[in-house]
Formats: sequence, C-alpha cells, structure tokens
Amino acid sequence: MTPSRGHGPLSRDIDRILIGERQIAERVRVLGEQIAADLTGSDGSLVIVAVLTGGLVFVADLVRALPMRLRIGIAAVSSYPGRATKSRGPELVGALPRDLAGRHVLLVDDILDTGRTLAMLRAEVSKQGPASVGTCVLVRKQKPEALAMPCEYVGFDIPDEFVVGYGLDYDDEYRNLPFIGTLRAEVRR
Ligand code: IMP
Ligand code: MG
Repeated sequence: MTPSRGHGPLSRDIDRILIGERQIAERVRVLGEQIAADLTGSDGSLVIVAVLTGGLVFVADLVRALPMRLRIGIAAVSSYPGRATKSRGPELVGALPRDLAGRHVLLVDDILDTGRTLAMLRAEVSKQGPASVGTCVLVRKQKPEALAMPCEYVGFDIPDEFVVGYGLDYDDEYRNLPFIGTLRAEVRR
C-alpha cells in the first residue's frame, strides 16, 4: 500500500504503509475486549500507565475501548537521542505514579523493539507491590530480543524496520500520522 490522501506533506515522506488506520482501529477494539475479559473482577483497580511520548496515541484509543473503571498514569521515558534510529537505552524522565500498590497495572507503549523500556518499567513498578503488572504494545518488531521479552498484549508483529506514525516518531515528528509506515530513505538525514 502506498500513502495517498490526507496528511499531504507528511505522507509524502512515507515509503510504505505497514498497518492502515482501519486495521489499527479494529485491532485496538479486540485488544480492549481481551484486556477487559482478563481483568474481569478487578473493576476499579486497573491503572493504565502510558509510556510517553510514543504510547500517547495508542493509549488514547485503547482506554476508550476499555469499558471498565480505570485510572491513567504516565511514565515519561526517553531512549532515542534526536535523529538516532538506534536506542541508547531507556531513561525515566520524571516520576512514576506512586499509588500502584495492590493495583493491576498495565504498561502501554507504542512498540516493543529491544524490550529494554518495558523491562525497566516493569521492574520499577514492581517495587511498589502492585497486584499485577502487564504490558501491552501496538507493534512488536520481529527480532530475537523483542520476541524473547514477555508481553501480554501485542497488536501486530512487524518486520525489523524503522517505522513512524500512530505515536511513533523520527526526530519527534510523524507521530500524528494515523497509520504506521516506513520512512523514505532520503528523509532519514
Ligand atoms: P525498546 O527498544 O523496546 O526499549 O523501545 C524503546 C523505544 O524506542 C520505544 O518506546 C519507541 O519509542 C522507540 N522505537 C523503537 N523502535 C522504533 C521505530 O521503529 N520507530 C520509532 N520509534 C521506535
Ligand atoms: Mg520515540
């Protein structure tokens, strides 16, 4: 699929769309059903922790697919320096929510790449003594480290390529594209 209508100047930088807008919406709906079914009986004790900035768009859609009482917290993590497309390792920027003891915590991020972000956050959250800690990502790259990382909810498995859109950025841009795609080589300066 090649990008066509809408997001004109942004879409022109896209080489290939890997996951379209409708496909994402349908998958988010199903993930919401699965999470709600798995957490039956935990009404009121679920805390969704959005991993920022990349998880922002996904979390906004996912919480509206969850028909139960829940709270939303944030974990701001930085892993890519500027235009780099290789992670230098996650760094927690600011504090995690503090009231996670006894609650069911679901960490929600855009992508599972090396798995280091979610491993670090899982360990940090566990220190507070939550009832459970789960992870949910919209996409997982098909690389050994990502596949070896336990993750309860995965939207899509994609090839090990650099992607943007639906929260995922290159140099902090392209997050607002409604689909997930690869960047044209000329754009990656
Ligand atoms: P990790 O390597 O699994 O710790 O992922 C670290 C972070 O890198 C993710 O939360 C994303 O924000 C970012 N990231 C990983 N792969 C990509 C990509 O292909 N495009 C854009 N951001 C990515
Ligand atoms: Mg990023």
